[in-house]
Amino acid sequence: MAELFDGYDKSYGAVVQSSINFSGLPHDFFMSAKAAVLRDLVASRLGDSDKHAALDVGCGVGTFHPFMRGMFRRLCGTDVSVASITQARQNNPDSEYEVYDGKVLPYAGGTFDLATAICVMHHVPLQERLGLLSEIRRVVRPGGLVCIIEHNPFNPLTRVAVMRCEFDRDAVLLRAAQSRRLMTAVGLRDIGTRYFLLLPWASPLTRRIESGVQHLPLGAQYVTCGLF
Ligand SMILES: C[S@@+](CC[C@H](N)C(=O)[O-])C[C@H]1O[C@@H](n2cnc3c(N)ncnc32)[C@H](O)[C@@H]1O
Repeated sequence: MAELFDGYDKSYGAVVQSSINFSGLPHDFFMSAKAAVLRDLVASRLGDSDKHAALDVGCGVGTFHPFMRGMFRRLCGTDVSVASITQARQNNPDSEYEVYDGKVLPYAGGTFDLATAICVMHHVPLQERLGLLSEIRRVVRPGGLVCIIEHNPFNPLTRVAVMRCEFDRDAVLLRAAQSRRLMTAVGLRDIGTRYFLLLPWASPLTRRIESGVQHLPLGAQYVTCGLF
């Protein structure tokens, strides 16, 4: 079945950039911030990340993967969009990609130390979200970490970006509390949320300020994670 994102395999980066141009920031700024948050979380929850195998579910054309380069022992990506996976393979020959049939993730149970779904859930119909998360949990080893990174619906600038993004017409944003409920329902534990991307600068001072208010729903995005 043709997927929405099959039509964006060549233009994904440009479409995202045009939706955030009003902020005056490049897409890379947002990607770097996500990578920094992920690196922190993995270090605090799992220890040295370069020993770990990671799976990025809904990885699209792999735009985020250069920002994860060297972070993990093994980096895999999967997506329901065949055209996106073809493009991801070209973009990042050092990562491993598989097409996902939307039902069963193409990996054995317990394969990964970490699994992420980055800006994916808001494209998944409500009634299918639990099934997807349950599949993600299946491929993570006991003690491994599952992270959902999502747009924060309480941030007005995030709302503007989503409104301007042509492939977000189907998007139904989810609050962090909804992500936490999904994680509880699939049996994850020690579930927590951190909001980030509040300030438009990348500096140690900015990071300290953002970290001080990470529990308030202010930042443009949030990460919710839980251990299996
Ligand atoms: C907004 S893009 C995000 C891509 C990438 N994670 C990133 O942050 O650059 C959403 C991606 O989720 C994928 N997707 C949508 N529904 C999915 C599902 N049920 N399972 C896996 N991927 C899905 C789409 O094909 C698309 O590539």
